Amino acid sequence: MTFKERVFSGVQPTGNLHLGNYLGAIARFVALQDKFDCIYCVVDMHAITVWQDPTELPPATREVTAAFLASGIDPKKHIVFNQSQVAEHAELAWVFNCVARMGWLNRMTQFKEKAGKDKENASVGLFAYPTLMAADILVYRATHVPVGEDQKQHLELARDIAQKFNNDFDASIKAHGFGEAFFPQPEPLITGPATRIMSLRDGSKKMSKSEPSDYSRINLTDDADTIAQKIRKAKTDPEPLPSEEKGLDPRPEADNLVGIYAALSGVPKAQVLTQFGGAQFSVFKSALVDLAVEKLGPLGGEMKRMVQDPVYIDSVLADGAARAGAIAAETMKAVKDIVGFVRR
Ligand code: TRP
Repeated sequence: MTFKERVFSGVQPTGNLHLGNYLGAIARFVALQDKFDCIYCVVDMHAITVWQDPTELPPATREVTAAFLASGIDPKKHIVFNQSQVAEHAELAWVFNCVARMGWLNRMTQFKEKAGKDKENASVGLFAYPTLMAADILVYRATHVPVGEDQKQHLELARDIAQKFNNDFDASIKAHGFGEAFFPQPEPLITGPATRIMSLRDGSKKMSKSEPSDYSRINLTDDADTIAQKIRKAKTDPEPLPSEEKGLDPRPEADNLVGIYAALSGVPKAQVLTQFGGAQFSVFKSALVDLAVEKLGPLGGEMKRMVQDPVYIDSVLADGAARAGAIAAETMKAVKDIVGFVRR
């Protein structure tokens, strides 16, 4: 069975987008536009699996949208929208809740991390999070999903759900003329250097909006002075930079800064080290400041300009939701027939 190639991915609107979100997700989304039809979603329904202040969710949703647009995602050629405007995501997620097994979800490591010690007090939504994610992807029968390392397990679950749905409803899928399989097996897409951007204070932790110190991350809307200060204060070690990648292995902070330089300039780490091997961090950091300000300055500026115009952003989201909704409605009609729901 071959399916039309289509990319889907999502970003949660939980406030303060940082360099990790940009290099790990958004910049990759931009690069996929030439090769695929892409659907990029601000996943506000995923965000509320943990408490979100209702006065902060709308600006956070618009901020992610602005980051998409300012980074160069074309909302006319592709689709940009927020999840809650297309009700079919929730509808398909319910069907998937009945396909997925408790045992599968119990194995999800992200739930264990996020729920922490007090599992009894986690929302049911946090537990069922991966079935909604599977619905996001499969309601468009998307074939390719750019995701970071931390979402790979969820994507595997989406593949298992697609497979079990296809098996469980095999006869009905054929009887309704949908061929051999209704859902594709969505594949992870890892493009470019697989950089994980780490905290500027601790090279063993991922850059995160929840780390208390703002010096641990570069926010996309930081101004040039702030970017420079954060990079100058970033943790390093006393040695000069190595001239080969192997030399970065036991040096997580050095590895991270070189990785950031490589990702921002679009060259492999090895090449960065050919240029800076033997240099002191003071020299390398100055070059990194210049590069980061050159790349992120205009992006942050454009984002700040865009969020001043929520009417425009909301019109992009509404247009995207209408176009996404048309595709999703087709899928849901078929799913209802396959499952045996009587429909209008
Ligand atoms: N779970 C993803 C994250 O936190 C966001 C997400 C939701 C997503 N639905 C998706 C990513 C579908 C890819 C495809 O990063």
